[in-house]
Amino acid sequence: MIRHTAFAALLLAVATASAAQPAAPTGDAARGKDKTRMCQGCHGIDGWRVAYPEVYSVPRLGGQHAAYLEKALHEYKDGERSFPSMRAIAATLSDQDIADLAAYYAHGSTKTAGK
Ligand code: HEC
Repeated sequence: MIRHTAFAALLLAVATASAAQPAAPTGDAARGKDKTRMCQGCHGIDGWRVAYPEVYSVPRLGGQHAAYLEKALHEYKDGERSFPSMRAIAATLSDQDIADLAAYYAHGSTKTAGK
C-alpha cells in the first residue's frame, strides 16, 4: 500500500515536472527499443492485426515519422484519440518514453519501398 502511494506520488511528480517544462525530451532509439516489449504483442504480428478486444487492423509503426508517432501517442494519452487499448498503454508512458519509442520506430528497419 505504501509502495503504491509512493509510486503514485512519483508519477504525479514526473507528470508535474514534464508539464512545467515545455521543452520536448529528445528521443533515444536505443532506449526506445527496450520499451517496445509492450507494443510488439500488437504491433509486431504478421498481417498487422490484433484479436483483442476484437479483430482489428493495427497500424504499422516502423518507418513512420517520429513527429507523427509522438503526436499520435500524446493524443491517445490525452484522450484526443479514443482507441481503448492504446489509451490504456499511452497513459503509462512518460513524455520521455514516447520520444524514445517514436525515435526507435522512426529509425526502424521497416522502410517503405524506395527509401
Ligand atoms: C492491445 C494491442 C496494442 C498494444 C499493446 C499497443 N498498441 Fe498501438 N495500436 C493498437 C491499435 C489497434 C491501434 C489503432 C487504433 C486506432 O484505430 O486508433 C494502435 C495505434 C497506434 C498508433 C497510431 C498509429 C497511426 O498510424 O496512427 C501508435 C503510434 C501506436 N499504436 C503506438 C504503440 C506503442 C508505442 C505501443 C507500446 C508502448 C503500442 N502502440 C501498444 C494496438 C495496440
